[in-house]
Amino acid sequence: MHELTIAVVGATGAVGTEFLRIVESRLPQLPNIKALASSRSAGKVLTVGGRDIVVEETTEASFQGVDIAFISVSTEMSLKFAPMAVAAGAVVIDDSSAFRMDNTVPLVVPEVNGEDVEWHHGITAIPNCSTTPIVMLCHPLRRENSILRIVADTYQSVSGAGGAAMTELESQSRQLLEGKEKVQAEALDQQIAFNVFPHIDRFLDDGYTNEERKMMQETRKIMHAPDIAISATCVRVPVYVSHSAAVHLEFERPMSPEEAREILEATPGVTVLDDPSRAQYPMPKDVAGADDVFVGRIRRDASHPNGLVMWVVSDNLRKGAALNSIQIAEELVARKCLPRHQSSVAR
Ligand code: A2P
Repeated sequence: MHELTIAVVGATGAVGTEFLRIVESRLPQLPNIKALASSRSAGKVLTVGGRDIVVEETTEASFQGVDIAFISVSTEMSLKFAPMAVAAGAVVIDDSSAFRMDNTVPLVVPEVNGEDVEWHHGITAIPNCSTTPIVMLCHPLRRENSILRIVADTYQSVSGAGGAAMTELESQSRQLLEGKEKVQAEALDQQIAFNVFPHIDRFLDDGYTNEERKMMQETRKIMHAPDIAISATCVRVPVYVSHSAAVHLEFERPMSPEEAREILEATPGVTVLDDPSRAQYPMPKDVAGADDVFVGRIRRDASHPNGLVMWVVSDNLRKGAALNSIQIAEELVARKCLPRHQSSVAR
């Protein structure tokens, strides 16, 4: 990786910041890094692995000589910048929903479908941060026993909506604790302090939100499982980092909680934390900053003989976004899928 030039578009954002932190700790030798953001941040200095990097405004010229462009900005901005990066010869790893359901774009969680990076045409997408933990659980389980139906209800932290939503949670909480009766919601659709609301992204004609639709479609695409029945309710909660979900799975045949635990314990990238007698189960405050997807409360679904219920928590900025992107970059390198580095680079 150290021979590569990596551009980080959105380097000053919640995911971009985490991306640079992971690069620092994960890669023994840093690649050449270009930190890109809007003109507002141009000139700001970021320190990565002891190296000072000056943030530049993102323009067409930014992508010259770039091998991998990691893009974590709005969907609208991704639609603008990704084609520029590809035209300059870079391979794009995009964090937005702009390209995820495009048939020419692989949507990848390396532990599940890493081989899909091989058919990229310049862009690889990463899933929505609430989709990733679901496929990390379902993929190993369904190899042993087909999953017919998934119902997932999420409890999503504010960092999923970016840095402005994190600031909003803090300022609203402060204002309400200071006695103010009403607060203004700007970055999010409703007041988030001391509240939860089932509204992430816009509402669609069928009553689902676009976030729920993304989860449902992306899960099927990543697992190559177009026939899995899936339903989701996505809820925003006043938590800074880490998304949680209650997941109900219906298998073709019964699966015991013990068998599921054994399979998940043997799955790279998954940690089972499941000891109700000692009140041990994953919580966002503990999982924030960790790489793995954590699962607990694994039990039989009382409503279906072939059902299991579980509770999953993962850091939405890491495995849900930045870490998954870096793992895709590693996969691209290992599988020699970078046009400028077909044969020369090692992991
Ligand atoms: P900036 O900090 O200069 O506004 P978050 O997801 O935390 O909201 O972060 C969004 C990221 O997208 C930030 O790094 C932000 O940069 C970047 N961004 C916003 N608008 C643009 C733009 N027009 N061009 C490039 N980057 C942008």
